[in-house]
Amino acid sequence: MSNKEKKPAYKSINTPICDFVEQYRSSFSARFHMPGHKGKGNGYENDITEITGADSLYSASGIIAESMKNAGDIFGADTFYSAEGSSLSIRAMVYLTCLYAKNKNKKCRILAGRNAHKSFLSAIILTNAEVEWIYPQDGESYLSCSVTAERIKEILSSSGKDMPTALYITSPDYLGNTVDISSISAVCKNCGVLLLVDNAHGAYLRFFGRHPIEQGADMCADSAHKTLPVLTGGAYLHINRAADKFFKKNALGALSLFGSTSPSYLILASLDRANALISNGYDEKIIKLCKEIDRIKQKLISYGYKLIGDEPMKITVCAESVGYTGYELNEKLLDNRLIAEFFDFNYLTLMLSPENGSDELARLLSVLLSVQKKAPNIVGEERYIKPEKAMSAREAAFYPSVKMRAKDALGKVLATVSVGCPPAVPILVSGEIVDENAIELFKRYGIEYIDVIDK
Ligand SMILES: Cc1ncc(COP(=O)(O)O)c(C=O)c1O
Repeated sequence: MSNKEKKPAYKSINTPICDFVEQYRSSFSARFHMPGHKGKGNGYENDITEITGADSLYSASGIIAESMKNAGDIFGADTFYSAEGSSLSIRAMVYLTCLYAKNKNKKCRILAGRNAHKSFLSAIILTNAEVEWIYPQDGESYLSCSVTAERIKEILSSSGKDMPTALYITSPDYLGNTVDISSISAVCKNCGVLLLVDNAHGAYLRFFGRHPIEQGADMCADSAHKTLPVLTGGAYLHINRAADKFFKKNALGALSLFGSTSPSYLILASLDRANALISNGYDEKIIKLCKEIDRIKQKLISYGYKLIGDEPMKITVCAESVGYTGYELNEKLLDNRLIAEFFDFNYLTLMLSPENGSDELARLLSVLLSVQKKAPNIVGEERYIKPEKAMSAREAAFYPSVKMRAKDALGKVLATVSVGCPPAVPILVSGEIVDENAIELFKRYGIEYIDVIDK
């Protein structure tokens, strides 16, 4: 089936939040409510708060509820908004899983791909969920974790009666690799294990029939702002309509437990606007763009670049295939005033969207094709060795800590995770012991100082 045939058809969708804000602006002349800027200042006019008629995010029953229902119709899910990124949706998803386990008189235990974003770490620290990690395969970047249905089946079948409550995976990962969620979800369903997906990078996969919810995930978090025309911070928590209604019933409560009581209406309105854009052809624009990206990828491959990842709207080049590091390739882009999403020793990652325009795509391609090829520069693949755990992440997070040079921390226990953003994927997790392998990885990724337990 072609991508186009898989794409869901939507009826044209209204914009209740945008309409309310517009009407408010034209109807009232003075604001005696928060925020303090009173709508004065360029771009501040639409920044309102939960005034009469504006609904209330965490007890939505008016315009926000209507807008979230519109988003749910697009994604084929019970959809809830986050104005604080997927980070908030991920914390809510983990909390909902703990609540579900508690209702069944069980301890919450989550089997998780080790390439989890830092927000998952904060979620387990806050909820005290137990985690069992699945580590990357040899030769894989620590940003990836190729989880297959076979691997999950093997792990779950050795769990006996002690099944985890949920499996948590990150797909797509930062480099653009996706996993086969359909097959993994079939294994999870067979074993009565929930499937949670960090789909922060993949909201748009809905237009390719590859969204985690349609592939059987019970819940997923999408950063709308990463790939759709939405303001930074706009994200979704999606719950599968076929999942236990317990999750839908408790979703807003879970989000409100970690979220601010002052969600940004600029962000909520941009999520609302995205519904209308998508139902009016933005999905088609993304599909068209991805065909163009595919042509660009073919040209890069013909030139000699090795590419990784199967995400259609992202390009990740293996820098060593043309004799450079990712840092060096990034310099070439910067010389031409082009900004990449991410780079490290091995990779350079570019995130695109229909907002880039064909001239920008042409410039990007031209710069990458102007790079003077050298003999492959083997910077060496990293090896991820499973670290030893001294205590749980939660215990470690509550100890006093001290900052020290990573290279001098051999044998110390990590307190809080030290990661830059991007990619915000921790090399070592709170409670784990700093070993030589971790020191090597800290060095490789430029992490000079870390926080260790002070005892
Ligand atoms: C894989 C992954 N998960 C989760 C997040 C958190 O998303 P947000 O920035 O929307 O909170 C990010 C952010 O970069 C991410 O890359």
